[in-house]
Amino acid sequence: MSSAQSAAQSVAQAKPTAVIEVRNLVKRFGKAVVHDGIDLDVYRGEVLSIVGGSGSGKTVLLRQIVGLERPTSGTIRVFGEEPRRLSAAQLQALRNRWGLQFQRGALFSALSVIDNIALPLRELRALPDNLICRAALLKLQLVGLSARDADKMPSDLSGGMIKRVALARALALEPELLFLDEPTAGLDPMASDDYVALIRELRRELGLTVVMITHDLDTLVALSDRIAVLADHKLVAAAPIAEVVKVDHPFIREYFLGERAQRALQALQQPGQSAPSAQSAPPARRDAAPSGEA
Ligand SMILES: Nc1ncnc2c1ncn2[C@@H]1O[C@H](COP(=O)(O)OP(=O)(O)OP(=O)(O)O)[C@@H](O)[C@H]1O
Ligand SMILES: [Mg+2]
Repeated sequence: MSSAQSAAQSVAQAKPTAVIEVRNLVKRFGKAVVHDGIDLDVYRGEVLSIVGGSGSGKTVLLRQIVGLERPTSGTIRVFGEEPRRLSAAQLQALRNRWGLQFQRGALFSALSVIDNIALPLRELRALPDNLICRAALLKLQLVGLSARDADKMPSDLSGGMIKRVALARALALEPELLFLDEPTAGLDPMASDDYVALIRELRRELGLTVVMITHDLDTLVALSDRIAVLADHKLVAAAPIAEVVKVDHPFIREYFLGERAQRALQALQQPGQSAPSAQSAPPARRDAAPSGEA
């Protein structure tokens, strides 16, 4: 191989794999414009956080990425596929590759903890029920709960436990990609820190790619490799936090340069803190396949 070829190959290897590609996305509801030409890549293995003011279109962006809402124009590819062009069966196969934890409608109140977690596996109809229960129990333990919690009803759980059960359900199908909409909203600071530590550990152990929406600065700073900022119907930045704070935009100034943000950023710079590196490139692609006990 020539040196030019090997140089070209190493550049190709260094290029991160985009698991989500959003191109020139426009979304309108009637005359109301939500997104006006958004381009965004999410790379394999990274935690990308989406921030923006209330109503800036964070949830609508997520809903379009997972195929729950149709773009007005533009394209969205997830794992190279365009959800809107797939048949129902193909879309279901694609959906099985990601897990979703939405802020609202977290758990089915009529189902026990274990039945909530088992639901995506039961819907697949691919496994006998005893295996489904075992897989659901493993997921329960993965998120730091125990078999003693399995038969509890959602109304018997604390806010932090509800988030964990919802996360266990999102992980039921061993996804490669996890979407979290305000995962720590409503949690007290300690429960929130515990949840952040859990996501960090799961991400490391399972090699997950995570797309997260959060208003919570501490969560944002502690977990994100890159931050995507939505404002004025556009994406005004998508970069590691150290670069985002340099972008001259009123929302960014207000959001990142206030007193709370400064405290969170200082914590990031404290030695010994396991905060994300301010890397421009995302982490290397994972090779390990999800463990296949389910
Ligand atoms: N189905 C819908 N029909 C009409 N308008 C909608 C619909 N869904 C969302 N919108 C509008 O789109 C805009 C963006 O909403 P979205 O829920 O994405 O905001 P957000 O950034 O997630 O806000 P928040 O931080 O408050 O959750 C809002 O003005 C909202 O009212
Ligand atoms: Mg929202």
